[in-house]
Formats: sequence, structure tokens, C-alpha cells
Amino acid sequence: MKLDHILHGGDYNPDQWIATPEIWDEDMRLMKQAGINAATVGIFSWSLLEPEEGKYEFGWLDAVFDKLYKNGQSVILATPSGARPPWMAQKYPEVLRVEETGIRNEYGVRHNHCLTSPVYREKVREINRRLAERYGKHPALLLWHVSNEYSGACHCELCQRAFRAWLKKEYRNDLNELNERWWNGFWSHRFTDWEQISSPKSRGENHVPALKLCWDRFVTDSHISFFENEIAPLRELTPDIPVTTNMMGFYDEINYQRFAGHVDVVSYDAYPPYDAADNKKTAAQFGFTYDAYRSMGGGGPFLLMESTPSVVNWRPVNKLPRPGRAAQAGLQAVAHGSDSVQYFQWRKSRGGHEKFHGAVVDHDGRGDHRVFLETAALGEKLKRLAPVAGSLCPAKVAVVYDWENARAVRHYNGLNNEYRDYLAECLKWYTPFFDRGFTVDVIGQEADLSPYALVIAPYLYMLLPGTAGRIRRYVENGGAFVATYLFGVADKDDRVFLGGLPGDGLREVFGVTARETDSLPEGVHGLMKYRGRTYRTARTCDILRSDGAAVLGVYTSDFYAGSPAVTVNRFGKGAAYTAAAGSEDEFTGHFCEDLIRKLKLKPEAGIETPPGVYARARGEYVFLMNFTDDRVSVKTGGGYLDLLSGGPAPETLALPVCGVAVLKKPDAPE
Ligand code: GAL
Repeated sequence: MKLDHILHGGDYNPDQWIATPEIWDEDMRLMKQAGINAATVGIFSWSLLEPEEGKYEFGWLDAVFDKLYKNGQSVILATPSGARPPWMAQKYPEVLRVEETGIRNEYGVRHNHCLTSPVYREKVREINRRLAERYGKHPALLLWHVSNEYSGACHCELCQRAFRAWLKKEYRNDLNELNERWWNGFWSHRFTDWEQISSPKSRGENHVPALKLCWDRFVTDSHISFFENEIAPLRELTPDIPVTTNMMGFYDEINYQRFAGHVDVVSYDAYPPYDAADNKKTAAQFGFTYDAYRSMGGGGPFLLMESTPSVVNWRPVNKLPRPGRAAQAGLQAVAHGSDSVQYFQWRKSRGGHEKFHGAVVDHDGRGDHRVFLETAALGEKLKRLAPVAGSLCPAKVAVVYDWENARAVRHYNGLNNEYRDYLAECLKWYTPFFDRGFTVDVIGQEADLSPYALVIAPYLYMLLPGTAGRIRRYVENGGAFVATYLFGVADKDDRVFLGGLPGDGLREVFGVTARETDSLPEGVHGLMKYRGRTYRTARTCDILRSDGAAVLGVYTSDFYAGSPAVTVNRFGKGAAYTAAAGSEDEFTGHFCEDLIRKLKLKPEAGIETPPGVYARARGEYVFLMNFTDDRVSVKTGGGYLDLLSGGPAPETLALPVCGVAVLKKPDAPE
């Protein structure tokens, strides 16, 4: 999707204000005032679009489309499958979801639908077809927003049947192969009939990791096939209108890295807890997430589809972020590759579950509210950032965060059962690069590694077929690859590789064998020495044997004192590192610094910043963001153009709290 400006807007629910059309007019006035250029409509509008089965009412949406168009806003049109009208559940109970208890839900809430139900799929196709027929040619239509935050699973009989069909395909109709790959000799679980298999349940089978992995994969595929069903009429009638569906960070019940291949543009709903948690950690965590979304979409821009202009309503305590923070948070997404700052929501609803969720327009309905004024000020800035739209963020460093691995790590039993936070582990290795102004891609294990000088794969427990070969070739061809503990332990069905770890031929590449794994309870630490310094170890430590790798660090405590903890193996033209000890930030920081030096990596941002001030390069622009609690000065070295002021940026730039500057690089053509 190519944009020549940054989208600024969000979820707009005029259907909640259908009885007060004067509010619609006021919305138009206020949207202009706030610099809003895109409105997402119709997300939960089904009961108004089809109040009775087969009786459609589009008059209100026609009016909304026309008003927005005349007012200068593009429309992001949602399909309404995220919530359905009560009549549908009453007439066709099969559209409702069956939980893992086996009990069918009653009507209510949202996202409460069966993913397989032919009736529901047909109803969704039909309403989507009508939307496409009616609005496909409307000049305001910019993008399809399919459903809303797909999530969950259904365990009804239709879904069980579909799951068995999925398994038959996966295991080539061979139950023996399934039994072998699931290791069903254990506890006498060999199946003799496909009908004996059903979804994992707390009152049924929940101790077979391979079953759980297959169910996860099936659920992902069900969402994708539900999505493909939704978009069939959109593709047919509006082939030029791109399609997205909004995703939720690292929600792991759907493999987003797979799903991303089915959308035209990846979009993400971000709600960073700034000012309610450690801001530096939050900045790194959301930087990581944005980088994952950009990478998922193949490196092109993604869309920030939802964010809050003030508070959310779903945290235990919903602290107001300080003035200026929401704008800074939106600009952070842009710095990492978003071509939009979209909000949930334009106007606070008067009643219902989300009436205290932040919105651009509060219940007072006024344009002089603090939140409104800040949004409008951001709207002005985003206009000036139009040249940034579409620009890319090529990276030399990648961190592997892999959805399949996330699930595998969740399902196995043993070793350290108390602590196995895969995401935190990845973040720990990402942060030293984030802090130093590097652009980092966050990729799955099936991604192409060749663009990178350095790839770090923390806690990559599961190797899918092909991964080991890709790592081997990458290192052979000159890449630097860092693995940590519990690397290459299990295959796609969670069977442990035999003959020594890491498996699948990687011992040769890394020049080590992981002989044993020690697990330390929270608060208990061991010690290791690396380049003359002693560091604490924690949580999970692999005890290595070098089979030829150079030993860079050793354990210095416990019975395995003297065993390798950090190694490097020259292999082909590259280097394969193993950092086998569960480490703390201090070691990770120093180790990454050494890698940066050794590989002569240069931060793309090119401007050094004090701690808590982050620099990010995007195309020919550099974003500087102050997440500290003080005013700071940053030495730019001069020659930059300040895109927000339009003038030259001073050599020493002052950034207030929450301040963001966007500079054009000196060597970039005007
Ligand atoms: C999102 C959802 C929105 C709204 C928002 C509140 O997850 O898509 O509809 O509920 O959360 O933060």
C-alpha cells in the first residue's frame, strides 16, 4: 500500500449516534480541526446494516461516507464479523463458539463465533459482498479493515471434524506417522482411529505437546481460511483496494508471521503503558513490537491501526499518561515504520463497556479539551511528516522472534517450569541495539537471513524443517549468528533431536555440544567469567562441551565451574556464537558491544543519544525521542534539516520531556 501522507484518524462509530445526527456534523467539524484524514467505520455495525435477516439498511452508512468524503477524510471500511446481531445467534446457534469445556456460549460480547460454521461463513460473505458492491467505487474508500482482532478458537463438532481433516493432511493420512511423531507410545496413547483425536482440553488430552502445537497451527489456519472467506467478495469486486486485519502484538494463539502473508498491509493495535511502567523498558518493548510488525510485512510500512490518545479502560488501574506522551508514542510507531497514527477511538461512547476508554473527543464533546488539543497538534506535525510516508528501514541486525517457537516453549514440561519468558529473552538481546540507535529487524525462523550481518536467536528451542540448513548456509557465507541456551532442542512435533544438541546438524556449525541444562530458581544466581569480568547467571544455563569452538567465557561456580558458557566457532566464512548461560542485562550489553565492535556495525541513526533518548533512522530521516523525565540536549553534529520546524536543526538540539524531533540527514537530497 503506497501512501503519500501519514494517516491520522481512528475508529469512528457514528452508528452509536444515529439518533443525534447533529453529533455527526460536529464530528466533521472537529475532525477537520484535529487534522484527521482517515476514519475507520463499521467495525461493529452489523445489527444496523442488517437489522433483520436479509433486510439491509445502508442509508446511514451512505450518509457517513458522503460526509467524510466532503470533509476530506478517507474511509477505512471494516467488515462487521467481529460481532453479530442477536437475531443471527437466535436463528442459527451454530454461529456461536463452543469453549474447550464443550459447552456452547450464549449470545454476547464479541469475537464469539465459530470459525468453521458454514452458516456464519456464508453470512459474512454475503454482508461483505454487499458492502463491496455498495462502497467499492466510492472515492473515499481507502482500505478494507477485515473484522477486528481475530482471536480465540472454537471446539464445536464442526471444528473437531475440520481439525481431524487438517491432521490427515498434515500426516498424509497416516495415523502411524502421527503416532510416531507425537510419540504416542508414551502412556499408551496410540490412536487407531482418527475419530479418537480431538482438540486439547483441560478435561481431556492436554499432556501431548505435539497435539497442542497441531491445534495451534490448525487454529491459525482456521483464522486464515475464515479471513480468505471474508475477503473473497472484496477481492472480486474491489481488486484495487488493499486489505488488512488489525493484530495484537505478540498474541500467540494466531501465528501472525504466517497470517501476515495473507494481508496487503500489516496493521497493529498498540497500547504501550507509558507513565504507568518503566518508560525506557516500554519504549524498547514497543520498539521491538513495531520492528516485528514492519518485518512481518516484508520490511515495508505497517499501519498503527489503534492506539489511545489518552487512557485505556482495561488495565487494573488506568493511569493518565503525561501531556505529550500520546503524541510521542504515535511518533515512535512512525519512526519504526508505521505510515499511520490511528486511535481507538474518535469519540467516547456514552454507554456500554468502553465508555471510559480514552478518545479524541471526550464526553464534553469539546474541541478545547487537553486530549483533543494534543491530538490536533500531532495532526499538524503529521502533515509535515508526509515525506516520511513509504520510507523504509533497512537493517543489518536481526533478532529472531518466532511464533512457532513461542508456542513450543509454552507447551513443553520440565527444566525451568517457573521462568521461560521467550519474549523477555528476545527483548533482552534486542535492547542493546535499540539503545544504540540500530535498526533491527525482528524476524521468524523461516525468514531469509542473507540481508543481515548479525542474527541473534535467543532461546530458539524448536527448529522447523529447513531452519538448520538456513543457519548453516548463512554462517558459511560469512554471517554472524548468536544462539543462546536451549537452542535447537526439538523438531516441529516437539521431539527432541537425538545424538546431542543443538540438533539437526548444528553441532558442527557451532562447534559445541550442550551436555546438560541447569535451572536456577528466581533470585538464585551462578557466576561466569567473560573477557576478564565476572557476571551473574540466572534461570537457565546450558553446560557446553567445546568440540572445536573457541571458549570466550566459562562458568565459575557450581560443579560445572570451568565448563564453557560462551563460545565462538569459525565456520565457513562466518562465526557461530553460543551464549549458553541465562544472563542478565549487563552481560548481554557487553557481549553485544563486543559484537558491534568486531563486526564493525554502525548504528543507522548515526546520532549518539543519552540514555532514555532514542534515535531511529527511517529512510533519509532520523527520529529523536526523549523518554526521560528531563529536558535533554542531543549533539547532532549539524547539517540536518528539522522537518517539524522546517528550518535547519541546531548542532545541539534541546528535547523537552516527551519531545520528538525528526531530522533529514545532511547527505539526503532536498
Ligand atoms: C482493542 C479493540 C477495540 C477496543 C480497544 C480498547 O483491542 O480492537 O475495539 O476494544 O481494544 O483498548
